[in-house]
Amino acid sequence: MTGEGIRIEGVGKSYDDLRVLEGIGVSIKKGSVVAFLGPNGCGKTTLLKIISRNLDPDSGIVFLDGKNIVEMRPVDLSKKMGSVPQAHRSSFPFSVLDVVMTGRAPYIGAFSTPSAKDMEISLGILKTLGISHLAEKSYTTISGGERQLVMIARALAQGPEFLLLDEPTTFLDLKNQMGVLSMVTGLAREKGMTVIMTLHDPNHALMYADEVVLMAKLDGHKSNVIAAGLSRDVMTAENIRAAYGVDVEIIEHDNKKVILPYVK
Ligand SMILES: Nc1ncnc2c1ncn2[C@@H]1O[C@H](COP(=O)(O)OP(=O)(O)OP(=O)(O)O)[C@@H](O)[C@H]1O
Ligand SMILES: [Mg+2]
Repeated sequence: MTGEGIRIEGVGKSYDDLRVLEGIGVSIKKGSVVAFLGPNGCGKTTLLKIISRNLDPDSGIVFLDGKNIVEMRPVDLSKKMGSVPQAHRSSFPFSVLDVVMTGRAPYIGAFSTPSAKDMEISLGILKTLGISHLAEKSYTTISGGERQLVMIARALAQGPEFLLLDEPTTFLDLKNQMGVLSMVTGLAREKGMTVIMTLHDPNHALMYADEVVLMAKLDGHKSNVIAAGLSRDVMTAENIRAAYGVDVEIIEHDNKKVILPYVK
């Protein structure tokens, strides 16, 4: 269907006199897994915040399934889109289950409390993420990686069609990194969920993302986007050098690309 997915047109953003984003034009197909990659400070979080309407751009428009997000009701946007920020507060004095259930807020009336169904959904998600044992623990006392998983659970409890994850693998151990990335790509394959995530590991992008938007700092260029498209095509040594200013070697193994940094 035309207009499905996310279309970002001509997005630009400054913080005071620091121009961070310029000329961002990206289309994201429904049901795809897309990684935003690029050096620290190039504007990945800023772009995710603009897509989730947590921040207004200075110019440009974001369309969600053909609708300008600025014209959508916030409750409709939260039913469609869940997002997990890069850094989250550890100060919710609630149980993990209660934190996850706050993800059900768009479905609960202003003067109502969560229903048995909301609880069932939330418990099911904790189980899928392998953290049922944390349900009754206080959110303030769990580890950084566990908090990351709880925040992902909370976003999934929203039942989103679009899931935005800002560095979902930070704080996670190797098994949980693979677990979370496999789970979100599985949700895209099986449920048609669209996943947009920022990553720092280029190999994660190659392994899990259908498409990559490779970004760089603006530094006077017309756009931050160095290249966008299929992960294999975008993740070339040349593009990686242009984005990060580092040299890498790309090897093929089992018909898969692996990126190795040159160690001096
Ligand atoms: N609220 C703000 N006020 C002023 N400057 C900001 C603000 N938020 C971000 N910046 C600046 O904008 C630039 C882009 O920041 P952003 O957080 O989008 O980068 P990023 O690509 O997500 O980086 P990282 O990989 O380190 O998370 C940085 O130079 C940052 O210092
Ligand atoms: Mg960031």
